[in-house]
Amino acid sequence: MAETQFDTSQVMVDFNQMKSFAEHPLILERGKGVRVWDAFGKEYIDGLSGVFTVNYGHGVDEIVDVAAEQGRKLAFSAPTMSTNPPALKLADLLTSLLPEQFTTVKFASGGSEANEFAIKMARQYHAQTGSPRKYKVISRYESYHGSTGFAGAASAQPDWKSKYEPYPEGFIHVSPRSVDAIEEAIVGENPDTVAAVICEPIMLSAGVRIPDPDYFPRLREICDRYNVLLIHDEIITGFGRTGKLWGSETVGAWPDILSCGKGISGGYAPLAAIIVTEKVASAFWGEAADGIQFFSGHTFGGNPVSCAVGEAAVRFLLDNDLVAKSNAVGDYLAAQLGELKSQFDVVDEVRGVGMMRGLAFNQPIGRPMYIACRENGLLTRPAPDWIGIAPPLVTTTEEADEIVEIVAKSLGEVTA
Ligand SMILES: Cc1ncc(COP(=O)(O)O)c(C=O)c1O
Repeated sequence: MAETQFDTSQVMVDFNQMKSFAEHPLILERGKGVRVWDAFGKEYIDGLSGVFTVNYGHGVDEIVDVAAEQGRKLAFSAPTMSTNPPALKLADLLTSLLPEQFTTVKFASGGSEANEFAIKMARQYHAQTGSPRKYKVISRYESYHGSTGFAGAASAQPDWKSKYEPYPEGFIHVSPRSVDAIEEAIVGENPDTVAAVICEPIMLSAGVRIPDPDYFPRLREICDRYNVLLIHDEIITGFGRTGKLWGSETVGAWPDILSCGKGISGGYAPLAAIIVTEKVASAFWGEAADGIQFFSGHTFGGNPVSCAVGEAAVRFLLDNDLVAKSNAVGDYLAAQLGELKSQFDVVDEVRGVGMMRGLAFNQPIGRPMYIACRENGLLTRPAPDWIGIAPPLVTTTEEADEIVEIVAKSLGEVTA
């Protein structure tokens, strides 16, 4: 099909300049396993799992069939007055995959919504447990928690947020390098005013940074000491991405509120959730006259098709032992990428864990590398001096070799 048959100028693609996108559009038409094909027939390895989402690969019949079946049975149930069997089953499955203190699930349609819920719930929790002055939220520079109001306010990617400032008051940012910065902020702001800390277990947007081993255990202690709720943004790190089922396991501490999305449905339906502990949930349990319920929701939250897909996707992950398998392939991929250091001086280090990797350079060649990889049939994530590589958890070692070959070829072209 000729490229001119598609006009992308009517569509705003996230974060992209429409004009430059229209000049060199990426229009993906179909996928199978780790591969996708664009509308012009070009094949790519989906080296970023869409965007850390297609954890189980493309075209998985077991998941697609469930969507069709549930769509025929009941495609929608109003979340303002009902729930549905797929939502109940998925809530049961999710809580069974976490320590027993996690009892309660609130479904959303995307990660930003889930983090919005998490922040609102933390504030309302304190209002209903005797600390009504606690409203501030502490997060870290370089983080990304979503595009909506509170999630955007908690984020701190200068280019992405400055267009929409001022954000609401009460969002404090600290350096991601040391956990002491969080304690200093809690104390400096007055602990009586701090409701929550929100952190990604492993910060993707900061360049796939692995925290010091004591960072999260200490953060957990600090939050407990000052009666501050800990929110883990596991939108990327959940569902096996870091080589364990949850990023919280990888970093050695559990939050009070865990927000997850992306891999929860593997991309087969819009779905996200917060999973909260009994301690948090119990503050919202009472008589109707008490008016202490959670006053926030979205039309597609807990959608029956999305939840049925979510259950099928998570079962696919578990039944195929993809957490352990992907961890082994992720280590292999990282080792092979690490070999490139001896061939290309520009390669600095391979970062990350499991199937969440970053290839860092000592020069600002992230964008040219992204373009070269794309030309050579590999989709990645660009940043000024690194690229993100996070293929589906079903990637084989042979496919990992293909990824490394394309990266090596692209490095050769970019550094020539
Ligand atoms: C860590 C993190 N949190 C939140 C979000 C927002 O999720 P969504 O794009 O589904 O709203 C993202 C999206 O990339 C993310 O990476």
